[in-house]
Amino acid sequence: MPLTIVTEGPEATTQVGEALGALARPGDVLLLQGPLGTGKTCLTQGLARGLGVTVPVTSPTFILVNQYAGRLTLYHVDLYRIEAVAEAMDLGLDDYFFGEGVCAVEWPERAPAAMPPEHLLVTLEHAGEQERRLTLQAAGSRYHDLARDLRGSLATKDGIRVLANTPPHPSQRARS
Ligand SMILES: Nc1ncnc2c1ncn2[C@@H]1O[C@H](COP(=O)(O)OP(=O)(O)O)[C@@H](O)[C@H]1O
Ligand SMILES: [Mg+2]
Repeated sequence: MPLTIVTEGPEATTQVGEALGALARPGDVLLLQGPLGTGKTCLTQGLARGLGVTVPVTSPTFILVNQYAGRLTLYHVDLYRIEAVAEAMDLGLDDYFFGEGVCAVEWPERAPAAMPPEHLLVTLEHAGEQERRLTLQAAGSRYHDLARDLRGSLATKDGIRVLANTPPHPSQRARS
């Protein structure tokens, strides 16, 4: 069941990332998908903060993978500029995905075949000038746990509204 979060400004999105960073474990992969300006980099900056990264995280212009030292190493992957899935394959992303660090991937939709099957997919959308809607979908039990723990840790933060888990469409419910 997806978890939907509305943030009321960039700092709130950063705080969602920070909470994820505090909960992150070695090998975690977060896929951040959504149009330009919806806060993927902002969320990654928070993730870095939550991992104890002390240098600023920037939006890479030409480099496709940036690495930051923290409690766990953060790999910030941005596939915006790749031309083809083959190019993503050539980056050897599996070394990051199946390593001991934490990966945040912007524009995973540019190379879906290169993404690992288990991940937390965060879909970001504009929901107003200062508001963004973040929909979290877990693929794999680790990420169900992560989403549940995130939900608990965000319950009382200003500027962050955690919407009720969206129930599955009746047609998708198991028949009793
Ligand atoms: N609720 C919000 N969450 C994140 N960013 C926001 C929000 N409201 C306004 N913004 C602005 O939107 C922009 C998001 O930029 P960025 O994180 O680089 O997006 P992306 O990486 O998705 O292209 C920033 O200029 C930020 O100040
Ligand atoms: Mg970005």
